[in-house]
Amino acid sequence: MKTAITEMFNIEHPIIQGGMHYVGFAELAGAVSNAGGLGIITGLTQRTPELLAKEIARCHDLTDKPFGVNLTFLPAFSAPPYPEYIAAIRQGGIKIVETAGRSPERYMPALKAAGIKVIHKCTSVRHSLKAEQIGCDAVSVDGFECGGHPGEDDMPNMILLPRAAEELKIPFVASGGMADARSLVAVLAMGAAGMNMGTRFIATKEAPVHDNVKKALVAASELDTRLVMRAIRNTERVLKNAGVERLLEIEREKGAKLKIEDIRDEVAGVYPKVMIDGDMDAGAWSCGMVVGLIHDIPTVKELIDRIMADAEHLIRDRLMGLLGTESKASLKVA
Ligand SMILES: Cc1cc2nc3c(=O)[nH]c(=O)nc-3n(C[C@H](O)[C@H](O)[C@H](O)COP(=O)(O)O)c2cc1C
Repeated sequence: MKTAITEMFNIEHPIIQGGMHYVGFAELAGAVSNAGGLGIITGLTQRTPELLAKEIARCHDLTDKPFGVNLTFLPAFSAPPYPEYIAAIRQGGIKIVETAGRSPERYMPALKAAGIKVIHKCTSVRHSLKAEQIGCDAVSVDGFECGGHPGEDDMPNMILLPRAAEELKIPFVASGGMADARSLVAVLAMGAAGMNMGTRFIATKEAPVHDNVKKALVAASELDTRLVMRAIRNTERVLKNAGVERLLEIEREKGAKLKIEDIRDEVAGVYPKVMIDGDMDAGAWSCGMVVGLIHDIPTVKELIDRIMADAEHLIRDRLMGLLGTESKASLKVA
């Protein structure tokens, strides 16, 4: 399938694996790129720019295909040295960067000077337009369903994507709630040039996380995510667990007076405990509502091949089949 995104990133299928803290290591990014999608290493999971350089080199050993690096600009207990991370990305020969969180405007000159294509993840039309205006090449439009930070507008993709299509000139992919061929075909109809998946890629054989995480995703339903940190305008969609219940209890007690320090134990340092140790009750870790659509743990290639084969079947048989013979003929002429 050819779209503006497959052309821009020189990939076979319009499927991107979004950056994921403690999941987006070389193993997963390499597997996604080898399967014809775009794999993304999560920059800040590497504690130093030197470690990121090593992770990029490891991914080059795993694939000859294009892959990218995610740089997330979120409020943190201590700000990472972004220019040094960008230097590691540049020196690693990376040509695609997924930015997220705050606007990447400050860093655009450095990224563009290195010939890097920037896809910025946005949860609103206004932020998408800002990304276009500051020179981003594409946008990942992230709906309210998404795992991670859905922003504060609570706008689901059914509205957000067509609105983005109405306003944007640069290509965009749909992010949040994407799981299968149905997601892909639906978002193509809404004007997207592909899709970005996070949660779905965690439940794959290659995702380098503890088996407990994959099993928890298969077991969970679409009702099992919770929104946390709304009071401090850092809303995150996470999988419910005992740590998250504690966090929500503190949030209820503190109300609008909540400070990040109040919930430090439930949000800081949680990822290694969950992803490496498999401690599923450690605290808040991102997970999308799409978890309700995850029923198996295939290899990345099986997942991507299945999505593309089913998408072709959906378009050719189901959608074309809905048209009468007469309209099919006129569709061909058009
Ligand atoms: C476990 C996990 C960790 C994530 N970490 C990051 C991150 O560090 N930076 C980022 O930009 N997005 C992060 N995301 C968001 C994903 O890149 C992607 O936008 C999101 O998962 C899409 O929604 P979905 O989960 O419904 O597919 C994370 C998502 C998950 C599930």
